[in-house]
Amino acid sequence: MSTAKKEYKRITTKTLVDMKNRGEKISMLTAYDYTMAKIVDGSGIDVILVGDSASNVMAGHETTLPITLDQMIYHAASVIRGIERSLVVVDLPFGSYQSDPKEALRSAIRIMKESGAHAVKMEGGKEIKESIKRILNAGIPVMGHLGLTPQSIYKFGTYTVRAKEEEEAEKLIEDALLLEKTGCFAIVMEKIPAKLARQVAEKLTIPIIGIGAGNGVDGQVLVTHDMLGMTHEFNPRFLRRYLDLYTEMTNAFGQYSADVKSGNFPSDAEQY
Ligand code: KIV
Repeated sequence: MSTAKKEYKRITTKTLVDMKNRGEKISMLTAYDYTMAKIVDGSGIDVILVGDSASNVMAGHETTLPITLDQMIYHAASVIRGIERSLVVVDLPFGSYQSDPKEALRSAIRIMKESGAHAVKMEGGKEIKESIKRILNAGIPVMGHLGLTPQSIYKFGTYTVRAKEEEEAEKLIEDALLLEKTGCFAIVMEKIPAKLARQVAEKLTIPIIGIGAGNGVDGQVLVTHDMLGMTHEFNPRFLRRYLDLYTEMTNAFGQYSADVKSGNFPSDAEQY
């Protein structure tokens, strides 16, 4: 029996490094469920991040801290069922990797085994080096995350731009070099000065994906619910809204409600 060749080419961690080498930008968006993942994947987005931002946009928590490993696995497995081409990266949630490398590896293995995801993402640099090494040694690709790291929000105390001062900028560069040397295949850099982000992207051979890090990096990531305009109360400077779904959906729900109440829905053609 012949196996028909699929038209799409799956994105791998190597594809992303090749894209950087060719100067081709990488597109990345979040998804947490099957339906959204199917649309994002079908739109040609290179990487889907099952971000712990699910804690905010799906569960309504103020921070990313409360989401659990089981909940991340549930979201990731739903996303995996919707994709054909994109690389799927899953956040290791707060509390699932910070205490020791063995726990970190166990958490990463659970994500890979129980969801079918392709890689994990972890926040931090030098402090989590041993955990990253352990996970990489098990054959699991790791994406780093530096700059504003929301799992440490109570340490920072604010969501303002990171690494504006020289000392923090130097630590960020050191951490980025260390993550590359340790074997991470890419790094997300969140909310740092554009000049610094560009400098890091030029120094490193692995792709730097920015969010609020300017245009001199190798790719961009946004939270899908934000760029679709569903979360209208969140307005950072870096966010470009491509739709105003909050208004569109509010109008649609209002119209539906009015149609139900007036008896206009369902019509004769919409019943059996
Ligand atoms: O959880 C998330 O969505 C993220 C992005 C903001 C990069 O980590």
